[in-house]
Parts: sequence; structure tokens; C-alpha cells
Amino acid sequence: MDAIECLYSRVSTRDFNDRPVSEDDLAKILDAAAAAPVGMCRYPDKHLTVVKNAAFLKAVTSKSPQTAGRRESPFYGAHTLVVVSSRMSDAPAIEYADAACIVYAMALAARAYGIASVYLWGFLKTVRADRELLDALCLPEGYSPVSALALGYTDEALKTFDAPRHSLTCNTVD
Ligand SMILES: Cc1cc2nc3c(=O)[nH]c(=O)nc-3n(C[C@H](O)[C@H](O)[C@H](O)COP(=O)(O)O)c2cc1C
Repeated sequence: MDAIECLYSRVSTRDFNDRPVSEDDLAKILDAAAAAPVGMCRYPDKHLTVVKNAAFLKAVTSKSPQTAGRRESPFYGAHTLVVVSSRMSDAPAIEYADAACIVYAMALAARAYGIASVYLWGFLKTVRADRELLDALCLPEGYSPVSALALGYTDEALKTFDAPRHSLTCNTVD
């Protein structure tokens, strides 16, 4: 799969099956995270946490709102999560921009390796507000979780696309 096809073929998955992501593939996805751009080159302010702990995933799920007829939120059956944490800085919101780049780099790499993913943001509010859940992430002192990527497989093969599935408005200033 070439880079452009990979770009168009990354989709959010919200129905994972139980097939585990191999350690090899996970390592390659984590390598891709380090290829992301980070504001002011502050890579030491970023931290990744691989979460496979079923008790943690279950505890978060039990504290999250559910929608009837859909896979359980917020992980949709995924058994592997990469949480991106950051030291909070003096540049407002830059840690969220950094995390977005890191998550996206991992999502693209995952797609290239045939692994499904979804960017997760909403559940971290629950985690940040719950001392027990926050402690369970075992983050280094001073870091806060800001974004995450769920990883796994789907029963149906991932589709490939050669064009964008969404559109953005755009104006040109000549
Ligand atoms: C910053 C950000 C936060 C997101 N948070 C969530 C989330 O908490 N839960 C979820 O199911 N999807 C989340 N998404 C995924 C978007 O809903 C998804 O990317 C969008 O609907 C477009 O669909 P696509 O990814 O299939 O192209 C998030 C995406 C971004 C970029």
C-alpha cells in the first residue's frame, strides 16, 4: 500500500474482534509514533502507555455512557490501547496538537500493517477525574493523558480507498 492509499484507507473502527495485536506489530506502531512532529521538538514531554489490562478497560467501560445496539464504549471491543500523555506546557493546547500528530502517525502505520484503529479522546476525561484509573496508568510524575488510539482487528477485511471519504471547506486568498 502506498502512502496516499494508506492516507485514504485509514478509517475509524468501532467493532473490534478478539484477535490480539502482535508484539512485533505493536512495536512498529510505537516506532511510527516517534516519527510524528512535536511542537518545539519537546519529545521528552511526551509519554506512551500501552494498555492491555482487561480490568482497566472494563473499569473504564463501566463508568462510560453506553448506546443501545452498539459495541460497548469507549473501546468497542478493542483489547489494546496506546495512551499518549504529556507534560502540560506554557503553550496553550500544544499538548493536544502534539498528541493528535502522534496518534495519527500510529493510526496510519496501523492501517499500513492491516490493523484497525480508532482515535479515542472522550474517555480520558473519565480517567483524569478518577484517581484510581489515573494511577492504574502508572504515568511518570507530571504527565497527563491527553489522547489515545485503540488497536485491533475486525471480522471483515479493512477496505482500501483511493479518494477522501470526507470533505473540508477551503478558500484561497490570492
Ligand atoms: C481529536 C479526535 C478525537 C476523537 N475522539 C473520539 C472518541 O472519543 N471516540 C470515538 O469513537 N471516535 C473519536 N474520534 C474519531 C472521529 O470520530 C473520526 O475520526 C471521524 O468521525 C471521521 O471518521 P474516520 O476516522 O472514519 O475518517 C476522534 C477523532 C479525533 C481526531
